[in-house]
Amino acid sequence: MQVTYLGHACISIRINNKTILIDPFITANPLAKHIDVAKLAADYILITHAHQDHILDVETIAKRTGAKIISNYEIVMHYIGKGFSGHPINHGGTCEFDAIKIKYVNAIHTSSFPDGTYGGQPGGFVISHNGKTIYVAGDTAVTYDMQLIPMHAKLDLAVLPIGDNFTMGVDDAIIAADFVQCAKILGCHYDTFPPIEIDKNAAVNKFKAVEKELHLIEIGSSVTI
Ligand code: NI
Ligand code: MN
Repeated sequence: MQVTYLGHACISIRINNKTILIDPFITANPLAKHIDVAKLAADYILITHAHQDHILDVETIAKRTGAKIISNYEIVMHYIGKGFSGHPINHGGTCEFDAIKIKYVNAIHTSSFPDGTYGGQPGGFVISHNGKTIYVAGDTAVTYDMQLIPMHAKLDLAVLPIGDNFTMGVDDAIIAADFVQCAKILGCHYDTFPPIEIDKNAAVNKFKAVEKELHLIEIGSSVTI
């Protein structure tokens, strides 16, 4: 699996010759001006919750690529109502496409569309294929429910928000990494806006001090698991 960081909470995962795009928020991200949404591939678009900073570019990309939108029931029905292709799941449920398993798991956050309408309950995803598994937490606080994840999945990478203010910060993300039993973390949801600006060196060193790797990679670059 090749995991590319596209800024904020947006990542793209290349698995089994398919591309899964998660939480596209690029055109209004001042740090992602070098990413061209018109060139992004997507066979599936996964959405953790309905906030603007997770859905902004969904329609543009789905229209061009015909990608199938996978999220909670309310979010998927919203897009199916607008003529897009979608597949609803909900917490605890797993679906499988192209031999890729996608499970929707709990997150503690909120989820409304930009116009205030209900966006279901927020979640994260556990994505597995061919013995490799990645957890994408979505916007969340640290939660004891994370301890359920290693009961069904041995993680190779966890994508965790670390920017604080709207989600957990670095210290809680270290607890989350323990809960999900994964020592390799890709940090997201930091630096995009002033309230979530962080000291990146300090964050990396805090993880290092407890023998975990925090990867904070350039927008547009990748890690392979
Ligand atoms: Ni949010
Ligand atoms: Mn967010």
